[in-house]
Amino acid sequence: MADTANLEIGDQKYSLDVITGTEQEQAVDISRLRKESKLITFDDGYGNTGSCESSVTFIDGDKGILRYRGYDIAELAEKSTFLESAYLLLYGNLPSNAALQEFRKRVSEYCELPPEVLKAINAMPKSAHPMAVLASGLQALGGAYPEFSTNDREKDLEAFDQVAALIISTVRTIAAAHHRNSQDKELPQPDTSKSYCGNFLSMMFSEDDGTDEIPEPVQNALDQIFLLHADHEQNCSTSTCRMIASGGANPFASLAGGVSALWGPLHGGANMAVIKMLNEIHESGDDGSNFIESAKQGKSRLMGFGHRVYRNYDPRAKILKNASDQALEALGVSSPILDIARRLEEVALEDSYFIQRKLYPNVDFYSGIILQALGFPTNMFTVLFAIGRTPGWLSHWKEIAENGKKIHRPRQIYQGETLRPYLSLEER
Ligand code: SDX
Repeated sequence: MADTANLEIGDQKYSLDVITGTEQEQAVDISRLRKESKLITFDDGYGNTGSCESSVTFIDGDKGILRYRGYDIAELAEKSTFLESAYLLLYGNLPSNAALQEFRKRVSEYCELPPEVLKAINAMPKSAHPMAVLASGLQALGGAYPEFSTNDREKDLEAFDQVAALIISTVRTIAAAHHRNSQDKELPQPDTSKSYCGNFLSMMFSEDDGTDEIPEPVQNALDQIFLLHADHEQNCSTSTCRMIASGGANPFASLAGGVSALWGPLHGGANMAVIKMLNEIHESGDDGSNFIESAKQGKSRLMGFGHRVYRNYDPRAKILKNASDQALEALGVSSPILDIARRLEEVALEDSYFIQRKLYPNVDFYSGIILQALGFPTNMFTVLFAIGRTPGWLSHWKEIAENGKKIHRPRQIYQGETLRPYLSLEER
């Protein structure tokens, strides 16, 4: 493994350090490059650029590996729960039983929204997208707890245990409150005797103030979806959270930015786009073959396929593909769009267009099918992705705040007009 890289620019030679990670990934450290050579590097979209050293999550895109703090995602999905994996991401180790009970208690204590925050959410237009409400709700929440959103890193770090539990808990309540309000219904009282997912599902769907039981398999299916979405290294929305945290802003502001970044259809918005795509294929009577052809001609995009990092099967998609069967069986529902999804995957994975471009199903390809079967409206799917991703975003905020990182400020190559004189109106 090299520990230096030699760069020759014209007649100048530069020796740069090579950093090696615990999983033997290597990077050329260019921190000194601009100072020594006056040149910067250029990497449109950062696909080849490491923005930080992080200990939260490891991904190997070629091998389809995903680990939270060193634990493999398949093992966590089988043996852990969302809250236990959230604790692991936040604090770096799996909790003892006592620590897990205390964390669970802290999360459930914060389930209710302060009245002025609930009022703010109910003041949002009923037609507002749930992601817009979630981003605004997080900022309103920070406003209701000024002692937790001081923008003084030391103070905000001191309050981190409370803030993490508060945000992980109330993102559910913000989502359910807007859903109820959009239907002109009251938000039922949270029922903290229920599980994290059971409480959320009751707030969302219970008809008579949460007394009806949510079947265990339904709660487990949602818990697994949240766990699988909990973190994913330096993706678009997490990098946004880190960018905001680097300026010293509090967790509420950082996560509100992450929610906005996740909303895009190329990122977390893809789970909504997948369902729309599958429903359109179903309604057209196409078995998927025509759609695949249109995707190959660039006329449409096979949503839920492809990834900036995975050039192999997204391990989360594999787990969700199996889970979708079990979830639908447990729910006693069938899903014609699941058959279409399977057919699309089958055709695509044998087609040279997708094989050559290493396009495989990603986390969004199957998640929407389960969420639809659980009864969630499609426009809430990305909010559910955000609820799952909350512990990851908080872990990255904490990593930036603890390491006292400098403000992130990339450079650019300017391609605009060069200097020109101001002309009066008459001269133009
Ligand atoms: C998430 O980064 C993360 O970790 C994100 C995430 C997380 O957990 O945070 O994993 C969650 O965002 C998953 C991705 C969800 N998005 C989608 O499913 C949208 C559909 N996928 C694509 O838009 C695309 O694959 C991206 C955006 C995901 C990745 O884009 P890339 O790597 O920049 O690929 P590209 O756009 O440069 O495309 C390379 C080629 C092109 O063809 P050519 O120009 O070479 O002929 O592949 C084609 C693209 O047209 N291509 C697709 C395709 N994705 C890429 N063709 C058809 N369908 C697709 N889905």
